[in-house]
Amino acid sequence: METIYEIAALRDELKNIRMAGKKIGFVPTMGNLHEGHISLVHEALKQADIVVSSIFVNPLQFGANEDLDNYPKTLENDQQLLEDNGCHILFTPSVKEMYPNGQGIETIVEVPALSNTHCGASRPGHFRGVATVVTKLFGIVQPDFAVFGMKDFQQLAVIRRMTADLSLPVEIIGVPTARNSKGLALSSRNGYLDNEQLDIATQLFATLNWLKEQIEGGDSDYSALEEAANKRLEDNGFSRDYVHICSQSELLPANENDQDLVILAAAQLGPARLIDNLAFSLS
Ligand code: PAF
Repeated sequence: METIYEIAALRDELKNIRMAGKKIGFVPTMGNLHEGHISLVHEALKQADIVVSSIFVNPLQFGANEDLDNYPKTLENDQQLLEDNGCHILFTPSVKEMYPNGQGIETIVEVPALSNTHCGASRPGHFRGVATVVTKLFGIVQPDFAVFGMKDFQQLAVIRRMTADLSLPVEIIGVPTARNSKGLALSSRNGYLDNEQLDIATQLFATLNWLKEQIEGGDSDYSALEEAANKRLEDNGFSRDYVHICSQSELLPANENDQDLVILAAAQLGPARLIDNLAFSLS
């Protein structure tokens, strides 16, 4: 696997690959890779001749009080993991390479319809940062398709909408959330938790499954169910962020007529803000 740090060098390399008629798959990441990321690489390898992954901790998607400075950087391990799992090219640019004109005045990409609710309400500006960097990475890599994890359900919706609205010629592929044996969604942020907290963390997905059972059992008082789920999480030691029962298509509050639902949830556990979701259809 080749590691490339500069946009011009990556473009040179990919130009020849594209001219040879090869299909390019792209897996953007912020590094600190785990099995969840590797499942994205495996998915990309199924469909691409060449898989490019990126590691870039994007400052634009972190709020002032968030963990940008402490975000784990494990480049050597990540390189080994990507190489062992068949990735062909790693692109890992510096902040200066990505934002040469400085931050705060860079061109931005907004997806207003989907960015200001759920995680976007708790993390103002986060999805603007994501949409901007992903648009930029698509412009640099020009992949045939790009693969994202479904754990970040809202992020995936924002990226799909951004790609459609800007008519970008990139197919977006979502891969189901990778979980440990107890159901906990794999996340770089799990690394902030001790063993006891890791055990408690499994209650997040357990609570989503409990909610799903209530809904499938006929309970359609969604506000009361959301409150009960938040309470259940608090009783287990989480601090409340949100639990929302939504329509899958627009991520709006679900009503009794919606059949395709997704429960989106975020909660703070000790040092980590954890998110998870559960999508399902009634009938
Ligand atoms: O999901 C992530 O790791 C990041 O939000 C992404 C998509 C790589 C953009 O920085």
